[in-house]
Amino acid sequence: MSSSKNKELQKLREKVKHGGGEQALEKQMALGKLSARERIIDLLDNDSFQEYDMFVQNSTAVFEDDRKEILGDGVITGTGTINGMPVCIYAQDFTVAGGSLGMMHAKKIIKIMDRALKMRVPLIGINDSGGARIQEGINSLAGYGEIFYRNTMASGIIPQISVVLGPCAGGAVYSPALTDFVFVVNKISKMFITGPEVIRTVLGEKISAEDLGGAKVQSQISGNAHFFAQSELECFDQIKRLLQYIPQNNRVKAFTADPLPPRRNDIENIIPQDPREAYDVRNIIECITDNSEFMEIRSGFAPNAVVGFGRINGESTAFVANQPAVMAGVLDVDSSDKISAFVRFCDAFNIPIVTLVDLPGYLPGVDQEHAGIIRHGAKILYAYSEATVPTVTVILRKAYGGGYIAMNSIHLGADSVFAWPDAEISVMGPESAVNVIFRKELMAAENPEDVRQHKIQEYKKKFASPYVAAGMGYIDAVIEPSETRTMIAHALKVSQGKIKSAPDKKHGLIPM
Ligand code: HXC
Repeated sequence: MSSSKNKELQKLREKVKHGGGEQALEKQMALGKLSARERIIDLLDNDSFQEYDMFVQNSTAVFEDDRKEILGDGVITGTGTINGMPVCIYAQDFTVAGGSLGMMHAKKIIKIMDRALKMRVPLIGINDSGGARIQEGINSLAGYGEIFYRNTMASGIIPQISVVLGPCAGGAVYSPALTDFVFVVNKISKMFITGPEVIRTVLGEKISAEDLGGAKVQSQISGNAHFFAQSELECFDQIKRLLQYIPQNNRVKAFTADPLPPRRNDIENIIPQDPREAYDVRNIIECITDNSEFMEIRSGFAPNAVVGFGRINGESTAFVANQPAVMAGVLDVDSSDKISAFVRFCDAFNIPIVTLVDLPGYLPGVDQEHAGIIRHGAKILYAYSEATVPTVTVILRKAYGGGYIAMNSIHLGADSVFAWPDAEISVMGPESAVNVIFRKELMAAENPEDVRQHKIQEYKKKFASPYVAAGMGYIDAVIEPSETRTMIAHALKVSQGKIKSAPDKKHGLIPM
């Protein structure tokens, strides 16, 4: 090839690499944001990025006056590797027309999504955009529709990760919402359906973009985001770590690491003697996982439940646990959503699930009933019942009523269920049970409190143990806490070839 043609190519490449120009890049940096290109380079393995469609041009503004030459059209797309494994990636470039989505911009994203699905590799989308490109009218909306359609088609086949590093407003929020994991960064990410201005006009309410849909709101209150980071680089580390635990697609297993023993061995001493006292269940998880490592997901949202990944003997393993340190680990609307979504992800992507149980049941109260605890709570029953991956349940302490059933009891299809010797498996806690069963007797008693205490002790002896359930075969074994990791590891190993077939149907009808 002639050197002049090479030079022309280099010049064009340089032009594209400059994005929206120095001034726009400076504005981006002043906001503490990396450029779209830096984001891709920092997230991918060194020198692994191969860019596509660099010279795609914007040309579809409705009115000719609005048609500008925008090389690359405000989004960078391509392939690369993370931890040595291939991924498809796109990053919207806010310095070019505010990263707004026009037709060619959408076509680039659609092409890389199709490629990810065809190659069966994870898709990572970095969102930083003013939304639908206004000048391109209906073509922008068409682009969004096609992206949402592909998010849905790829769901459960390849892992889809959304990284929100700037504005993500209007209908644009629905692509992240249709993906599996959403990452946000403090002070940088902003997601909302309608912005502060519309809210002020329509409702007369004043609120800042940060308070409306900033990273803290999304990761702690709405639950839309799964991971919160203080900086973009911390966020990229989280993505790299997550990708070590999940497979490339739904037909393969996640990567197996070298097995390591846990660094902690104090599992016997974590649960307090007094059954009413709280403790942090993450300490128990750390006694079970290789090197005591655990990657928690949605840690800021519904903290009364804990979900995340660790390894057992090198194999990626999902953990679902009640968190007695927060609201006694009770199940409510948010924790039901958190658990069921996680169980469904792990089931779709062949990651075995370990469930650690210690809860008094579903949370009673007007607020929860009116918020739809029946509908949300049902999702846990559904998710565990339809799961076909190997599952193990360990009852650590309390397992009362609906909570016992919901937290992957044998009745919902758990492959193995173990209980610690102090486990209390019954319809309800001793205090509540005595108040119901002996209500008349207590009302008639001369000294009701003495009678109540006596009845509570009787009830505890009779029902509050693992042995009634063990006597019925509802648990497979009562185990010492120190045996927990070994028992789980064995149960998962023997379940590796598990085949569970569901009745033939188009799809189930879980109330989403
Ligand atoms: C075209 C846009 C744009 C858009 C921003 N720009 N948003 N161009 N269409 N949607 C352009 C600006 O004109 C500007 O161009 C450049 O991007 C940078 O924008 P600024 O406003 O200067 O940046 P900033 O002050 O940081 O504000 C960012 C912003 C604001 C908060 C995102 O730009 C904004 O409110 N944009 C509109 C958001 C919006 O309403 N989007 C449509 C949502 S409806 P110049 O040339 O001056 O540099 C939607 C429907 C989708 O998305 C439905 C799907 C189902």
